[in-house]
Amino acid sequence: MAISPPEDRLWWKRPLDRMEIIWISIAFLWGLVMFFTMIYWHFTGRQNISSEAYRVNPAAYAAKVEAAANKYKVREEGDTGIPVVHPPPGGDAYLLGRTWQWWPILELEKGKSYRLHLSSLDLLHGFSLQPTNINIEVVPGYEMVLTITPTEAGEFGLVCNEYCGIGHHIMVSKLYVVDNSTTPPATTNGE
Ligand code: CUA
Repeated sequence: MAISPPEDRLWWKRPLDRMEIIWISIAFLWGLVMFFTMIYWHFTGRQNISSEAYRVNPAAYAAKVEAAANKYKVREEGDTGIPVVHPPPGGDAYLLGRTWQWWPILELEKGKSYRLHLSSLDLLHGFSLQPTNINIEVVPGYEMVLTITPTEAGEFGLVCNEYCGIGHHIMVSKLYVVDNSTTPPATTNGE
């Protein structure tokens, strides 16, 4: 039951009220502000670092990590003899995640940049470096590459941040950053 004929009720034919125009303009401008803040914040905020991703076969990735570990191993640690690998500064650092282990332990140098490669051999894992704000998904079949420059020397904790089964909580490791401006460079095997 229409009270007035339909043509009188076509809202888009009515002129906009001044208040309506003001509110629409405010909403539109605010939308633009938020949009550009997103871009601005990507570069200036203390954000998760951005990464590149490449397709990789898990077995091929494992071979690359193992080759780098054999070449740049400086010592072994723990009962399982997990290698500590000191990749060349400015070069590539390889790390893999698998149920339920990070392999190997990386030792980087403060102030030097690295291409850090990450991938998983089986399930989805999460690379979470403590106490920094670095949190990267480690996906089987993809090689994530981050360009990083450690700014602080010390021992950093590495935890898995994606639930990956019964051993998820034991999937912890560490990452060393050494300051070679004050100590002599570590010796490398087979160099
Ligand atoms: Cu690996 Cu959780």
